[in-house]
Amino acid sequence: MTDTPVSPAAGLATPLTFAYWVPNVSGGLVISEIEQRTSWDFDYNRTLARIAEDAGFEYALTQTRYAASYGAASQHEATSFSLALLGATERLKVIAAVHPGMWHPGVLAKYIITADHLSGGRAAVNIVSGWLTQEFTGFGLPWLEHDERYVRTEEFIDALRGLWTQAGYSQEGEYYSIEDFTLSPQPVEVPGRAHPEIFFGGNSTAAQAVAGRTADWYFSNGRTLEDFSDNIAGVLAAAESGQRRAAAAPRFGLNGFVIARDTHAEAVETLREIVGKAHRPAVDGFASAVREAGAATADGKGMWADSSFEDLVQYNDGFKTGLIGTPDEIAERIVEYKKIGVNLFLTGYLHFQEEVEHFGREIIPRVRALEADLARAHGVELQAGLQPAAAIV
Ligand SMILES: Cc1cc2nc3c(=O)[nH]c(=O)nc-3n(C[C@H](O)[C@H](O)[C@H](O)COP(=O)(O)O)c2cc1C
Repeated sequence: MTDTPVSPAAGLATPLTFAYWVPNVSGGLVISEIEQRTSWDFDYNRTLARIAEDAGFEYALTQTRYAASYGAASQHEATSFSLALLGATERLKVIAAVHPGMWHPGVLAKYIITADHLSGGRAAVNIVSGWLTQEFTGFGLPWLEHDERYVRTEEFIDALRGLWTQAGYSQEGEYYSIEDFTLSPQPVEVPGRAHPEIFFGGNSTAAQAVAGRTADWYFSNGRTLEDFSDNIAGVLAAAESGQRRAAAAPRFGLNGFVIARDTHAEAVETLREIVGKAHRPAVDGFASAVREAGAATADGKGMWADSSFEDLVQYNDGFKTGLIGTPDEIAERIVEYKKIGVNLFLTGYLHFQEEVEHFGREIIPRVRALEADLARAHGVELQAGLQPAAAIV
């Protein structure tokens, strides 16, 4: 293992959590003509979800996309697809991505409470502030300036949390006002969570500030170790600012595109093939559209702001995290990120069903062994974490 210093924010006794991107949009997770044995249809996804929960994955994240764009010609809607996946599984928690500005928070709060009851407390949301201008303008909705989108997002999350935890909830906002409203039933009571978990996706300075004040989980696009340390520091600074409204500081989830092969050379060759077969006009179009995100901010920092052509072939910058190599190399890399404070890995693959199963069989047990060594070296014991079903006897 290399010598990344262990951050005081790293929870060494708590096992890492694993999630995967639900492929509910066509075209897979890379904008490339390379073969992807992944389908966006429901039958494929139902089987995948069952494979994932048996493989030791705790969460699945369903994307929200309304308009054909950059390799994703067709898409299934996130909240309904998530609900169907919850119905098809027993333990998996399914996170539906939603845009403030598309939903009223009260309607979403009610929807998620019902999904939570139908699934025994396994519903969650990922609040995303949007980048695809045309989805808003095409629906006749206002497209707000970058940081203003986060003002709306913050009010949206406040409303969700308020409606999920309080009777007679009221708030007065610029975007959302709620007057003396009680949702009944309330969400399912689940030990360890105050309400359905609120994930939050975004990288910019404004995103970090809002996540720090309001989110249960901060989700990031793929980042290098150094860059993600900066994000963690930014979010924790906001969480410590005295305006924190959720019970505990956010935990940290990081996207990574996994290319696990028997040899390092094979994995690197696969990456080369993905990028070599990139759908160039689609990647260039995407690069242009996402200037609405991080690059549109006053300080020019944020998601996709410094991404190269190669990075954008995986449209959530998943190559930057470097989960590319043998199972041993990937497990070691994952634990390096744990040292800086990452709690969860959000993973994508070329061939989802077979590679999610392989990740559970070959990588999670290696990660658990390394985590146990790391914890022991710091005088703590690793608690039991989710194991692939095959490892539980
Ligand atoms: C993990 C993660 C998942 C995301 N999922 C979606 C999504 O499903 N739909 C979408 O329109 N945007 C999604 N986004 C992008 C956000 O909407 C937003 O454009 C981006 O986070 C802006 O970043 P910024 O704050 O750096 O400008 C996601 C972002 C992250 C980090």
